[in-house]
Amino acid sequence: MYTEKVMDHFQNPRNVGEIENASGMGTVGNAKCGDIMRIYLDIDENQVIRDVKFKTFGCGAAVATSSMATEMVKGKTVQEAMEVTNKAVMEALDGLPPVKVHCSLLAEEAIHAALWDYAEKNGITIEGLEKPKTDISDHEEDEEY
Ligand code: FES
Repeated sequence: MYTEKVMDHFQNPRNVGEIENASGMGTVGNAKCGDIMRIYLDIDENQVIRDVKFKTFGCGAAVATSSMATEMVKGKTVQEAMEVTNKAVMEALDGLPPVKVHCSLLAEEAIHAALWDYAEKNGITIEGLEKPKTDISDHEEDEEY
């Protein structure tokens, strides 16, 4: 039921780990299954993503989509990284089974949360970026899970 690319990224995930003193960090939870994803971004002075790492307490599809998503944002500017949507990641993986589509959102949302963190720290605006709704490192609002 999974494509070869999904199996490859699940079995040999790229960019697993963490970055100390990351330029931006985002943690999100998946409302559907309760799984958790954290993304770390290292961004240089030209707003280029130099390095990216992820950690997840999530399913195989979440691992594969995060692995692919991190590969896709590496080397891009923060603005270009906005084009790495869950749809783009799924296409790059040759598709996911429909019941697993929500898993691919975890990677996109965690990247957005990390970009948001970076933008806030640096007082910049990233076009099209909205405050992440499911950033579970921020418990101020009552969110429905
Ligand atoms: Fe939770 Fe896939 S089932 S992320």
